[in-house]
Amino acid sequence: MQSKVLVSKHIYREAVDFLETRFELDYHDSDESLAPAALEARLAGKQGLVCQLTDKITPELMDAAPALKVVSNVAVGFDNIDIPAATARGLIVTNTPGVLTDTTADLAFALILGAGRRLGEAERYLRAGKYKQWRIDLLTGWDIWGATLGIIGLGRIGQAVARRGRGFNMRLLYNDPVRQSPEVEAELGIAYVSKRELLAQADFVTLHCALTLQTRHLIAAADLQAMKPTAVLVNTSRGPVVDEAALGEALASGVIAAAGLDVFEEEPKVHPRLLECENALILPHIASASVATRARMCTIAAENMAAGLQGGRPPHIVNPAALDRSR
Ligand code: DGY
Repeated sequence: MQSKVLVSKHIYREAVDFLETRFELDYHDSDESLAPAALEARLAGKQGLVCQLTDKITPELMDAAPALKVVSNVAVGFDNIDIPAATARGLIVTNTPGVLTDTTADLAFALILGAGRRLGEAERYLRAGKYKQWRIDLLTGWDIWGATLGIIGLGRIGQAVARRGRGFNMRLLYNDPVRQSPEVEAELGIAYVSKRELLAQADFVTLHCALTLQTRHLIAAADLQAMKPTAVLVNTSRGPVVDEAALGEALASGVIAAAGLDVFEEEPKVHPRLLECENALILPHIASASVATRARMCTIAAENMAAGLQGGRPPHIVNPAALDRSR
């Protein structure tokens, strides 16, 4: 008998085709997430769930779906899923790392350039018909070439951003609970420093850590105060890593110069203070949004599902301990 799989939201066609040939598919082909009650109802009797970061996979949902064996998240991040609860229930969780590393690093770097050189403000200024004459100090920003780049979280994406920074002749610093080997540090030309030193020295601070209990509000009011008044903060990780209210205050009062943000604490809402700040360049969570990368993320999620439900080890399993307790 074929396993039953629910796809909670619209994904790329090639992944749907792949899943359809292997499973009995219930495809919610919509850009709108299912409401929690509807998700629970559609999960009844399903062995697999292909979900996205807008779906909250709670212990209650897991208990309401006793047939469920594999949850395949179409994202590298998995803070929308209660991993300890999944592991305790023998529920395999998978994600889509690797494929989006360079696409995300490109966008982080675009935010470094865009916030540093005030591109959002400049475009709004021009479109509003305010450009009457060239001026010596019109929309002057901060140089990227030769500046100091502080990377918080030197995993795959952080390292890819470091490589881009080298191309811009930047001095590279990082902080991470896990220190890289001397070989990796030498290859990237990057120095390990404390978070405090990084914040004090960097002209650009870019965040590439996962959202965990330890990283929630990793950048709070005191951290912003520790940065240079000319510094730029970039966040493409997860919104709650930054205290948004504190950041809004810091941008409005000149504690730091600018911010480039792709993620927010309560997406899709953006803190009203940030919306008012001309010096915040803000985007709707598009860091991995190239056509090729998003399509590949869907295919990888489908491949993870196939391996998980067909008795193999999924290529990208988040909680390998669940394999020992598999439902
Ligand atoms: C992820 O994969 O975690 C991103 O936030 C969306 O690509």
